[in-house]
Amino acid sequence: MRRWWLAVAACVCACLCAAAEAKATTHHHTWNVTYQHRSPDCVTKLAVTINGESPGPTIRAAQGDTLVVTVHNMLETENTAIHWHGIRQIGSPWADGTAGVTQCPILPGETFTYRFVVDRPGTYMYHAHYGMQRVAGLDGMLVVSEPDGAAEPFAYDEERTVLLMDWWHKSVYEQAVGLASIPFAFVGEPQSLLINGRGVYNCSLSAASGGAGAGGGACNASGPECVWPTLFTAVPGKSPGKTSRLRIGSLTSLSSLSFGIEGHTMTVVEADGYYVKPVVVKNLFVYSGETYSVLVTADQDPSRSYWATSHIVSRDPTRRPPRAPPTPPPAGPAWNDTRSRVAQSNSFVALPGHVEPPPARPDRVLLLLNTQDKIDGHTKWAINGVSLQFPATPYLVAMKHGLRSEFDQRPPPDSYDHKNVSISSPPQAAATVRRAAYRLALGSVVDMVLQNTVIPANNRSETHPWHLHGHDFWVLGYGDGKFDPEADGWRLNARDPVMKNTVALHPMGWTAVRFRANNPGVWLFHCHLESHVYMGMGVVFEEGVDMLPRLPAAIMGCGRTKGHHY
Ligand code: C2O
Ligand code: CU
Repeated sequence: MRRWWLAVAACVCACLCAAAEAKATTHHHTWNVTYQHRSPDCVTKLAVTINGESPGPTIRAAQGDTLVVTVHNMLETENTAIHWHGIRQIGSPWADGTAGVTQCPILPGETFTYRFVVDRPGTYMYHAHYGMQRVAGLDGMLVVSEPDGAAEPFAYDEERTVLLMDWWHKSVYEQAVGLASIPFAFVGEPQSLLINGRGVYNCSLSAASGGAGAGGGACNASGPECVWPTLFTAVPGKSPGKTSRLRIGSLTSLSSLSFGIEGHTMTVVEADGYYVKPVVVKNLFVYSGETYSVLVTADQDPSRSYWATSHIVSRDPTRRPPRAPPTPPPAGPAWNDTRSRVAQSNSFVALPGHVEPPPARPDRVLLLLNTQDKIDGHTKWAINGVSLQFPATPYLVAMKHGLRSEFDQRPPPDSYDHKNVSISSPPQAAATVRRAAYRLALGSVVDMVLQNTVIPANNRSETHPWHLHGHDFWVLGYGDGKFDPEADGWRLNARDPVMKNTVALHPMGWTAVRFRANNPGVWLFHCHLESHVYMGMGVVFEEGVDMLPRLPAAIMGCGRTKGHHY
């Protein structure tokens, strides 16, 4: 079988799809979404759970399989919608789970069924995509294996999933209201970082700050949930010489992380569902929305255990209370060492034979300037002066049905004054909140260059992990300072770039990606930080909606789609 794989490496996609079709199965899941009292970090808080769990269950399927997930919204007072992060939803754009873009939210008491094919193997995730609901814990991992008989280009003895999150004691409502208020109240740094839904908050700190876990419920240091979880009983230490594959995903709401295992290196072999040329790292930088597979070999003293830790990078976390471990965990890299993070981003290239090379040139180039602006007194993020708004009528329905009053007919600008704009004092005052979308020619090749700037309010530039729905893109490169189409164009890597669905825009830098607009539907492209997209940091793409068949009635029922019989 292995030999067969190598022989067909050049036509990986076609061969595998055919192989997968033969044995494709359908997996059914039924989820009850409820609020529950949880203490993931020893502090009691309301969390949104799936069948009582947060994070929810890991979904497993093989390439080509169909997933059918029936979601009962039992939240009583709150809508929901669930996005399948990294699944392209080819032929099923209405199952993307993005409230306001691809569907009406699922109302309390109602049921919605997501049905879609997982067309590529890889490590993916799912999470709430309604308001800032992801912050409350509605998330989990989705693992798609190679179809039976297909070998992977690396070997390991066992595998684990590692879901990284950050966690606040303040409710998601308090956070969202603060962001939308005048004066603006930021969510602040998280109280805890969670690995597979667990962390340990130092209860003595919450007592010092007046108890109640700094905005949450009781902090119970002796509760059964308040212990450091053993993540990898077999790795490292307990099974010497064994190699484990860790499927790592980040669904942090704000934090960029460094993940590491004390005393061990990790070999990165997959990013966002694509194999990369193996890269050995001590610290893996993981941005919200990204997934990686790393191989770890238990080659250290087996008589002791080792820390697996996540640390905040890119934002100064010093106000975050230290954790209370039994022995001190190793320190992470310096939070503001942007250079080594950019270097690691640049170190990933495609594993030859496993990633289709990009088309030689784009049909259209979007230069996207990221700025924080004040709009009518509100603090917002804008892209080329347009701050995203999620309308009551989902863009998909509005565009397919020509409901012209439901979105702005003027598309947002393709570019900005890249010659004259200063990224250390970006233009202010011109931004507006608009319901607008880029209309892309179906099948066209689109380049996007994201340009970072300084936030005028604090004179800093942050990391923004940008995530594209409905497609994967080639990562053409990262650069420092202002992108200059003439000088920087030639520096782009069109030879062996990785494909991903999420990419970091580093502080004061630019990031260039290329994708093919070949998936009829309406798709969100946004910063994966929950507070940033809530403040408007995203754009919407439409391509080929006219080609779509009649939209399912189940996605309607809100805005102008109310009571319409389509
Ligand atoms: Cu993982 Cu639009 O998000
Ligand atoms: Cu952002």
